[in-house]
Amino acid sequence: MNDLDIPVITIDGPSGAGKGTIAQMLALELSWNILDSGALYRTLAYFMQENKISLNNFVEKREEIEKRFHVSFDPGVPGEPVRVIFEDKDITSLVRTEEIAKLTSNLAAEPIIRDFIKPCQRDFMKAPGLIADGRDMGTVIFSDAKYKIFLTASVEERAKRRQTQLKRLGLEVNMRSLLHELEERDRKDTEREHSPLIPAQDSMIIDTSNLNPEGVVKEIKTYL
Ligand code: C5P
Repeated sequence: MNDLDIPVITIDGPSGAGKGTIAQMLALELSWNILDSGALYRTLAYFMQENKISLNNFVEKREEIEKRFHVSFDPGVPGEPVRVIFEDKDITSLVRTEEIAKLTSNLAAEPIIRDFIKPCQRDFMKAPGLIADGRDMGTVIFSDAKYKIFLTASVEERAKRRQTQLKRLGLEVNMRSLLHELEERDRKDTEREHSPLIPAQDSMIIDTSNLNPEGVVKEIKTYL
């Protein structure tokens, strides 16, 4: 099977729109590979923080980072987040904090960071298929994908979902600051110059505000 024969379903949208849950449900049901590109950016941000690497010395350290930066995902079990494995460690709860999210959003606006992450993302395209979750999966990284979904939901609903996810990871957050951070991150992701968050022209847009995950999967299956 060559690359062109490997089916890809892209799922883009803002934080808390349900991408992770839906990507996980589809990956488990189809037994396909999963790419949580947000977690890939988060892992790079975490790695840079841990190793005191800044944008200024990124180019100089790039080779070293490339050697060590191998991330894998385990779809895990329904109701729990997709697990992030880095250097043989499960770092899921370390990278899913709001502090890392903020740092990630700033780094992700930088072309050198996006340029570094791009080939890592394409490497996930393996048989029998790939579910790719992110912001620019359908517009940039897998613009050739046959199936493209864009999930959205009201900011209040997304903040509520985010709070539940963080609670499950044992992290308490204040609803007001969560709402503020989410709006700020949406603004940055949408307004940035490189790979802004926008639906691909040929994507199916689903507002998940009043749908449960099963309802969203049902709509996607009808589309597929
Ligand atoms: O989806 P998640 O909240 O984990 O993503 C964290 C951040 O990573 C986003 O706010 C966005 O800035 C960045 N990101 C991106 N492109 C992607 C996925 C995530 O810029 N494909």
